[in-house]
Amino acid sequence: PLAATADIVGPAAARRAGCGAFNAIQLEHVHAIITGAEAAGAPVVLQLSQNAVRYHGSLAPLCAAALAAARSAEVRVAVHLDHVESPELVRAAVELGCGSVMFDASALPYLENVSATRKVVEYCHGAGVWVEAELGEIGGKDGVHAPGARTDPAEAAEFVAATGVDALAVAVGSSHAMVTRDAVLDFELIARLRETVPVPLVLHGSSGVPDESLRMAVRAGMTKINIATQLNKEFTAGVRERLEREPKAVDPRKYLGAGRDRVTAEVTRLLGALDAG
Ligand code: G3H
Ligand code: ZN
Repeated sequence: PLAATADIVGPAAARRAGCGAFNAIQLEHVHAIITGAEAAGAPVVLQLSQNAVRYHGSLAPLCAAALAAARSAEVRVAVHLDHVESPELVRAAVELGCGSVMFDASALPYLENVSATRKVVEYCHGAGVWVEAELGEIGGKDGVHAPGARTDPAEAAEFVAATGVDALAVAVGSSHAMVTRDAVLDFELIARLRETVPVPLVLHGSSGVPDESLRMAVRAGMTKINIATQLNKEFTAGVRERLEREPKAVDPRKYLGAGRDRVTAEVTRLLGALDAG
């Protein structure tokens, strides 16, 4: 069934477990994320990013599909809008029925991030929608990796108090869109953030983090683990392999299905690694 993000992330944080949050670009991802979560017997956060919305030209079709698939899932599925910089898109997500949004003003100076985020929180909370924000820019989305960025624990606590956000994305050594899984996380910083920040912590750019480090990050206090690139790697490998084996294939279902099945298996594997069940 469709679930509230708070009801998936909150209990995971309370039992110091991880919660998988996976990005869907198209319908094959939506099905794979849900089927993979069902096989793991774990709840899951299904995310649509502002970049994916840009690719499709609008949020509504994929969002409607994600909500419909969530409603008929055998596990609890939350539908979340990821990395939104535009307050108009936040509004569209809320009106379409997304249960949560990640408002990303992390590129702005601290005080501007606070005031932009606070406005989004006021609007979203009025509509019963859960809000994640980011402090300490986690790089890599533009192809420029900045694994050196760090979130200051005292500033993070102040940011949460000043904005009222429900979860906080923090910079602790990961970087977006890594295709190698060799990021080095600052576990000591994660533990300090866990002590000072009263809301669940979110790890972005988790594709670049090896499984064992993901487990250690969860143990140190991370809860929501955002993964996108790792699924795309699997999807593309499945498609490529199938097309190489069947170069005369014409029906896209032949190769998209192969990509989808690889993503399903990877989602199940990752949820097991995160103890997300
Ligand atoms: O918000 C999405 C995640 O941070 C995904 O990052 O593509 O590096 O796994 P990733
Ligand atoms: Zn991210």
